[in-house]
Amino acid sequence: MQVRLRIRRYNPEIDQAPHYEDYAVDAEPTDRVLDLLNQVKWYQDGTLTYRRSCAHGICGSDAMRINGVNRLACKILVKDLGERITVEPLLGLRVIKDMIVDMEPFFEHYRSVLPFLVNDEAPPERERLQSPEQRQRFDDTTKCILCAACTTSCPSYWANDRYVGPAAIVQAHRFIFDSRDRAGRERLKILGQQMGVWSCRTAFNCTNACPRDIKVTQAIGEVKQAIAAGRVD
Ligand code: SF4
Ligand code: F3S
Ligand code: FES
Repeated sequence: MQVRLRIRRYNPEIDQAPHYEDYAVDAEPTDRVLDLLNQVKWYQDGTLTYRRSCAHGICGSDAMRINGVNRLACKILVKDLGERITVEPLLGLRVIKDMIVDMEPFFEHYRSVLPFLVNDEAPPERERLQSPEQRQRFDDTTKCILCAACTTSCPSYWANDRYVGPAAIVQAHRFIFDSRDRAGRERLKILGQQMGVWSCRTAFNCTNACPRDIKVTQAIGEVKQAIAAGRVD
């Protein structure tokens, strides 16, 4: 089949403003959008710029808007989109060039929630033990690949980019509910501030956008409950 690929292009060195360009690309229905972008870059226009690395939905580097919805280009298939496909950069982050957005504000929010295990107690002789039930408590949020599809689909984040955003809350959740961690209260204090979880209006865009099928809104709700309850188990 032939696909008409419409791509939002922007090169700050020559363009006054972003514009769309169309490319005709031969494709198999089982091709991924990343394959189409590669075809354009390798055989039609080498200036096309986008991030990609693993090509298997693991590294999180190729999140973009595809037919108006945030997805990973390496996961979504042509047969699920049809013969006309529009590709645009993520919303809410500054476009550097074509699909490349400035991820620094996103990672700044990520770093603000202490996204690492904190435990200053002397380690036991062997490992810090955890029951399967304790591990299950935060299993869902361990799947996050920091692709930013959730945060850049959130209307609250579009309205105010000081909102920490769903991805950072998911990362905080992963440690807040880890029985080995000791910084839960500190993270809840950070997320209890005005630009924390209370900026979430339960729009659910984040959950719908997540390529890892993480129950993002539910995780945010659990953090809200923990803050409201005044402590975390
Ligand atoms: Fe991406 Fe999902 Fe993680 Fe958000 S929660 S950054 S959408 S993997
Ligand atoms: Fe935004 Fe998700 Fe809340 S889209 S408003 S973070 S439920
Ligand atoms: Fe790694 Fe798509 S290229 S997630």
